[in-house]
Amino acid sequence: MPTVASSALRVPQSRIRELADIAMKMDDVLKLYFGESNIQTPEYIKRAAAKALGEGYTFYTENAGLPGLRQDLADYYRRVQDVDLDPRSEIVVTASGVQALNVTIRCVLNPGDEALVLTPAWPNSAANVWMDNAVPKEIPLLLRGDRYAVDFDSLQAAVTPRTRLLVYTSPSNPLGWVATEDEQEELLEFTRRYNLWLLADEVYERLYYRGVEPGIPTPSILRKANRDDAVIVAQSFSKTYCMTGWRIGWLVARRDVGQKATQLNEFIISHPASFVQRAAQTALALGEEELRKMLARLKENRDFCLAALRRMPRVTVPSPDGAFYLFPKIEGVTDSFAFCRKLLEETHVGLAPGVAFGAGGEGSVRICYAAEQGILEQAMERLARFLSQRVV
Ligand SMILES: Cc1ncc(COP(=O)(O)O)c(C=O)c1O
Repeated sequence: MPTVASSALRVPQSRIRELADIAMKMDDVLKLYFGESNIQTPEYIKRAAAKALGEGYTFYTENAGLPGLRQDLADYYRRVQDVDLDPRSEIVVTASGVQALNVTIRCVLNPGDEALVLTPAWPNSAANVWMDNAVPKEIPLLLRGDRYAVDFDSLQAAVTPRTRLLVYTSPSNPLGWVATEDEQEELLEFTRRYNLWLLADEVYERLYYRGVEPGIPTPSILRKANRDDAVIVAQSFSKTYCMTGWRIGWLVARRDVGQKATQLNEFIISHPASFVQRAAQTALALGEEELRKMLARLKENRDFCLAALRRMPRVTVPSPDGAFYLFPKIEGVTDSFAFCRKLLEETHVGLAPGVAFGAGGEGSVRICYAAEQGILEQAMERLARFLSQRVV
């Protein structure tokens, strides 16, 4: 009997999804396990999609996405990051951030290659490496005081003749860690030295709380790289514009990968939905004010949850600079999936187990604080009660 391919069988199940599948069968769960808020996409974006449908954006577009959207993305980079890009060769519109990861990883790895992945990390980039018959090697970030840092010694020790790619996420899901400019430079130098591709997942670029004013982005690796560097950025409209369900993102890459990803997308998605691309143009054009409001709300939520967690027994939690997650470590927890399951069943609070995020994640849980404050208040109260009632 034919069997499922071994490359597919090697892809582990997402343990966030496994927990969510249990939660989705229950009523009244406070859902903090996914990376999204319970706030819908802003009306001006919904209206733009409806208008685009009315105007007939119902046909196929270019594989790389509408030229107008690619131009808008190039303008966005000039305005927000002070980076010049060629919209015709270096930007490809994708059907989400995860699809940008999928197609670019496919473009740079051969079967049997190895990819270094900085963890704890959202599991999808490592899963994409597995899907290409290649092998991810997880290199945990090190907690130094209240801040995570890249462990360059371990990175160096992990390089073999098969290593082709280094993947990192900044701001990080689940840590909220943001690579410093020195770390970015060192990562770039490292990949130049060992002849590797550097894939930066920057989908949380705009969710940054340390800028001189709200809305200032985390500096993109594109500021440091020259256009001939083997650098790829995966990006998304999901987080900045509350568009998780729309499935739209983009990638920036050296021209050869940009071209190949465009061609491969013909056979994968062809292109993202036409009217969604038009709505994305509107998000880029009009989104800044709404984004600043969201950032103020997220910062309040972060500070509220951080303070609540720091009052709980056996909990230690570094203060994150970006994204919308907290990743507290709970003393005594050795099986974070079992812990999250029990918490869910007994209190209806849904958190993501740290084990889902690879090396360095076990013993912690991820809390997404993008939900409304009323939900967070209840969740923190129930978690505090749960922890005070048991020795885990
Ligand atoms: C680090 C990271 N990268 C990429 C994505 C993908 O976002 P999307 O596929 O919704 O664009 C996510 C979503 O949670 C994420 O956390």
